[in-house]
Amino acid sequence: MNRRYRKTIIAGNWKMNKTLSETRAFAEELKPLLGRPKWCEVVLCAPFVNLQAATRLFKDSRVSIAAENCHYESSGAYTGEVSAEMLKELGVKYVIIGHSERRQYYNETDFTVNKKVKAALEAGLRPIICVGESLEQRELGVTLELISYQVKCALAGVPAEKMRHVVFAYEPIWAIGTGKTATSAEAQEVCEHIRTIIRKLYGARVARSVTVQYGGSMNPKNAQELLAQPDIDGGLIGGASLKADQFVEIVNAANQD
Ligand code: PGA
Repeated sequence: MNRRYRKTIIAGNWKMNKTLSETRAFAEELKPLLGRPKWCEVVLCAPFVNLQAATRLFKDSRVSIAAENCHYESSGAYTGEVSAEMLKELGVKYVIIGHSERRQYYNETDFTVNKKVKAALEAGLRPIICVGESLEQRELGVTLELISYQVKCALAGVPAEKMRHVVFAYEPIWAIGTGKTATSAEAQEVCEHIRTIIRKLYGARVARSVTVQYGGSMNPKNAQELLAQPDIDGGLIGGASLKADQFVEIVNAANQD
């Protein structure tokens, strides 16, 4: 983390978990535990159907609400899809774009990621752009090239003045939901690389202000060590965000003086 130049963001990614009543129960449990996060911003990424309730439940708290995906058009004949404008009007602040599960199961490509990033920014949402390599790619030694490619594609056509709204999440696919975490050195290397690419595209000032999260089996045990790395500015947390007590422990790790 580097609190001097950029925001630390701890975001829970619920994926396809929690019904409306479970969302309410989670909010009841989380709010008293959370207190006032000193340094970091706390974000919860919830399924579409629960976003409206979630924004109301956390209205008086310092938790921001995020969607897990959006469409790249603002409206039209796209049955079953949800636009960035629709999310913005609900009070949603962030949206995850290009999560590896969407790339893997729903044909999300670097091209659609780019279109969605621009649509989100246009609507006034902050995209959390996910990038990361598979185990095969890591073993082939092409991780950094692949990350460069994903970051450049995601940002194509994004003007410098919009970059303060952009968040990256480095999520090695082999670490997601597997219990295998990247070592803090591995995670730092890639997060630093993401910042290097941003520096080449937009210059040093923009690069040092962008929040770069790590995601992939982050939990209360490993959070502190990961967050101690200079280029890891938070976490995108799946499994450990489903239990309020575990999630709060990770927030507390980010809030230490
Ligand atoms: P995980 O998921 O923490 O369960 O590994 C992270 C993510 O997919 O964002």
